[in-house]
Amino acid sequence: MSACTATAPGKIILFGEHAVVYGQPALAVPLHELRAAAYIEPGSPGGGLTIEAADLGLRLSLAEAAAHALALTARLALERLSAGEPDARITVRSGIPVAAGLGSGAAVSAALARALGEYLGSPFEAVELSALVYEVEKVHHGTPSGIDNTVICFEMPVYFVRGREPVVFHPGQPFDLLIGDTGVASPTRKTVGAVRDAWQRAPDSYETIFAEIGSVVEAARTALERGQTARLGPLMGKNQALLRRLGVSSPELERLIEAALTAGALGAKLSGGGGGGNMIALVEPETVARVRAALIEAGARRVIHTLVR
Ligand code: PMV
Repeated sequence: MSACTATAPGKIILFGEHAVVYGQPALAVPLHELRAAAYIEPGSPGGGLTIEAADLGLRLSLAEAAAHALALTARLALERLSAGEPDARITVRSGIPVAAGLGSGAAVSAALARALGEYLGSPFEAVELSALVYEVEKVHHGTPSGIDNTVICFEMPVYFVRGREPVVFHPGQPFDLLIGDTGVASPTRKTVGAVRDAWQRAPDSYETIFAEIGSVVEAARTALERGQTARLGPLMGKNQALLRRLGVSSPELERLIEAALTAGALGAKLSGGGGGGNMIALVEPETVARVRAALIEAGARRVIHTLVR
């Protein structure tokens, strides 16, 4: 068995957050530029499997830390491969910011399981890998919708409806996105809970908004598949207006969105849970630098550039 490395990308939601919880579709894409990597090499005979995450200051052995997400990933992978615990050392590293709605946990699990499969000579198919990562997400994140593991393991844009088989697709035309971080921590469960409370108080008006978001997502999917990138900008604006009505935007998000649009972005909206966290801006190669500078000027803590393809 020889050493090998496997990787997996982060992800970002393009359209449909929140409404997806109520059965509407959502679109998410992989972030190819931000990846988690797992390097596996033979370890000392009889030493079992150890996992190190240098960035997290973490070192664990499969035997001792069975409940840890990374150990659980390794155990599930070995189970599915019908393999015993190898004497090996896995080192994971991730360039994906954590707790930022960018899928860092799912990507690290995917890279780790992928590395084990390759090391043991039975690489995982994307569909198997996605199911495995979903198991880990369920244990460590409550009731995930399943969108993260799908996008991250297939490494393709996904059209997702809760409880249905996700559909992967290729955009007809690649396009540039900037992801701006407000720097305001906002746990997804908090905004999801606030929307739920508001929905319970006024189910009809909230369901109307969810359905309108669903229509925007359908239109966006069609535009994406046809390569009509310019149509996505106004659809992002519409989605953002609806998210505002759900009460999940914030002054910081609005400031970054406004700055991006003023600097020439074709569209901008919050992405993920909202209340803080990230926003996305659709840009063209010639406006990337200007919009990035405007985002920083407006207070973005970090700006990530990705080519969606
Ligand atoms: O913040 P993220 O990228 O994990 O996205 C949350 C998306 C929600 O629709 C708000 C919640 C969910 O479970 O789909």
